[in-house]
Amino acid sequence: MAAGSEQWYSDDIAEVVVSAEQIKEKTAELAKQVAADYADRGEVLLVGVLKGAVMFMADFARALEHPVELEFMAVSSYGARATSSGVVRIMKDLDRDITGKHVIVVEDIVDSGLTLSWLLKYLTSRGPASLEVVALLRKPDAVKVDVPVKYIGFDIPNEFVVGYGLDYAERYRELPYVGLLRPEVYAR
Ligand code: XMP
Ligand code: MG
Repeated sequence: MAAGSEQWYSDDIAEVVVSAEQIKEKTAELAKQVAADYADRGEVLLVGVLKGAVMFMADFARALEHPVELEFMAVSSYGARATSSGVVRIMKDLDRDITGKHVIVVEDIVDSGLTLSWLLKYLTSRGPASLEVVALLRKPDAVKVDVPVKYIGFDIPNEFVVGYGLDYAERYRELPYVGLLRPEVYAR
């Protein structure tokens, strides 16, 4: 790969699905909506799901113009696709009590919805005052599991995407846009 930012991963990306500009506009739009909905509710606790939601969490929190606290969880789902139960393991739990707090889960992408559906049950059991989800991306598969996501950025085709937090083998998270990888990349 040639040096220079114009060549930055460009050989690996087949197509831009959501541009940096589109992400910026949509994030501002979602933030405005959430800020209006929570105007009379005081502080909001954002729970970001590591690692994918890191970029969106950072931009969304700054666009919100409403006081927030930031928390992160890390979960890993094994065999999520093969099972209907969506077995999830907590790799990093919340650092603090969320009882009585207005919680918004910040997700990069809702695919089958199994991870999120499990997470919402888990968080509900911790007694928040309210619980909603903001997800930047959603794939059509998500309709298979009825998971209430109030704030959605983009519905995207059912293809594996990378960038803006999303990875393939831990790479491409730092891309400012969401894109499709060239098939050759998977063959490497
Ligand atoms: P479910 O199916 O439980 O999965 O909704 C959600 C999690 O799966 C990952 N995921 C992706 N990661 N590109 C990625 O890099 C994708 O296209 C993709 N689709 C799902 C992601 O971790 C998400 O939180
Ligand atoms: Mg991943």
